[in-house]
Amino acid sequence: TVTSWTGPPILLGVIGGSGLYKLDSITPVAEISITTPWGSPSSPITIAKTPADNHVAFLARHGRNHAILPSNVPNLANIAALKHLGVKAILAFSAVGSLREEIAPKDFVIPSQIIDRTKGIRRSSFFGFGEEESVVAHAGFGDPFDETLRPIVYETVKSTLSSHPLTVHTGKTVVCMEGPQFSTRAESLMYRTWGGDIINMSVLPEAKLAREAEISYVLIATATDYDAWRPASAAVNVAEVMESLKANVEASNLVTTKVLDRIWSEIDSDDKPAVKGIKDSMRFSIMTRSE
Ligand code: ADE
Repeated sequence: TVTSWTGPPILLGVIGGSGLYKLDSITPVAEISITTPWGSPSSPITIAKTPADNHVAFLARHGRNHAILPSNVPNLANIAALKHLGVKAILAFSAVGSLREEIAPKDFVIPSQIIDRTKGIRRSSFFGFGEEESVVAHAGFGDPFDETLRPIVYETVKSTLSSHPLTVHTGKTVVCMEGPQFSTRAESLMYRTWGGDIINMSVLPEAKLAREAEISYVLIATATDYDAWRPASAAVNVAEVMESLKANVEASNLVTTKVLDRIWSEIDSDDKPAVKGIKDSMRFSIMTRSE
């Protein structure tokens, strides 16, 4: 394990969720332990080489042995560590529950919107926390996922998994809840009336902090269960989630063999839309005047 990286540029970060504690389909070349002003990330960062010889940084969101609760993920340190390595984009994975009949367990979803049910509970900004006066910034978050990369990731995932008996969805809304308990049936039904399609405990504040750090962010959500809204089915439990996770992780490893290099080709120069669109965006988000 080393504390810094002197190899080729690392333009892409991958954050693995439940089940995805390492990337099995690409070659690890180094392990980096980084400390940031916001503490240590969830796990050491593995640098791995893709089939096209691009170097990506992998981080296990819940730690490699899944010992970190969604509410305790050191999101600021995770994003700061990836920023420190120089990544321009993050591809995040997350297990989710389905709030819609047409999204079946084992399906993949590349969502386009988020509903925040963790607001006020988790620290969600690098700016002005616990201080009466500091720098005030309001990042734009109308499109929480990178709208250049999202359709590209969707097409790539769809074609990579075309022979699998599952559906790949996009343009969906993910509800991010606090947990760690799953939702009641009443809450699950309420999220459906709000327009929620899937539900997890992890996309926030990760996506918000990536936006503030000017890193493009896309989520690959893998459905593990139907949550609690279906009247005739048992509400979700961990055994059901684990059962779907195995298939999801296998499919996710297959997806990474193609999608990482595909994203790379969209971020390998600052002129490309997925980089240009977010680079310097925070400059226009700061309200505090410097006199
Ligand atoms: N992660 C996986 N399934 C979930 C569910 N039903 N609710 C919240 N987070 C989840």
